[in-house]
Amino acid sequence: MMTVLVINSKGGSGKTTLTTNLASYYASKDYRTAIMDYDPQGSSLHWLKARPADRHPIHGANAAPAKGGMALHSKHSWIPVDTEVLVIDAPAGASGLLLKELVRRSNYIVIPVAPSPIDIHATADFIKDLYLVGGAITAKAKIAVAANRVRNRNATPYATLERFLNSLRLPFLTSISDSDIYLQAIEQGLGVYEMDEAESATERREIQPILRWMDGAFPNRFGVRADDKLINLESSKQYAAYRAVRKI
Ligand SMILES: Nc1ncnc2c1ncn2[C@@H]1O[C@H](COP(=O)(O)OP(=O)(O)OP(=O)(O)O)[C@@H](O)[C@H]1O
Ligand SMILES: [Mg+2]
Repeated sequence: MMTVLVINSKGGSGKTTLTTNLASYYASKDYRTAIMDYDPQGSSLHWLKARPADRHPIHGANAAPAKGGMALHSKHSWIPVDTEVLVIDAPAGASGLLLKELVRRSNYIVIPVAPSPIDIHATADFIKDLYLVGGAITAKAKIAVAANRVRNRNATPYATLERFLNSLRLPFLTSISDSDIYLQAIEQGLGVYEMDEAESATERREIQPILRWMDGAFPNRFGVRADDKLINLESSKQYAAYRAVRKI
């Protein structure tokens, strides 16, 4: 199983938006996909409830700590044993033991960050925490950053963010624009890869670098080269055979 953690201690940075888009992409490609929502607000699970029944299913697990309790897991936090892709939606302010647990579980860690001075400052502190408290130095996870809600790529905060990431030598995967398409997708229980192709072309392009970054981690069970998977999956004979067997 490949586990992707979407995390930033800063609230409202785009964790749930990325989680839902990544999970729905893999589900739409027939990977058995689950979301583990560690956020007590349960936003990803809300999104799942809005997901149309005729779309590829995604298992939702509630891993939020019980109110006032210390327990990290409840009976709702299980995921199916045959899950192939697990996307974890972290809560704002994750730190300490919870941060350690999340890092330990993950193969990939994606940090969305808004290009505002306040968010960049908070994210810098968070990334320090990720290494010092979360144990990211010794963990197996690969870490990268994605700018989110970018309005103007030439604006100063954006340049500051780029400099900051370069100084950390963390990959800066993509700039995701501030776009109504993301809001519409959330509202409909979909990801941008499941929306009208022409309408969501820009947003698909923005998400794609994240998918490519993680691409190597996938079992190549469809018999296509890792690099081609995002583009040519549908045209692969093996994939067609697989769909026929699974009656998809
Ligand atoms: N690229 C975007 N374009 C437009 N709206 C966006 C974008 N990214 C996020 N939003 C909106 O911004 C708000 C915060 O985003 P989101 O819920 O994904 O952040 P979060 O990090 O999960 O927040 P929290 O820390 O509260 O869990 C939401 O209303 C979301 O719909
Ligand atoms: Mg959220």
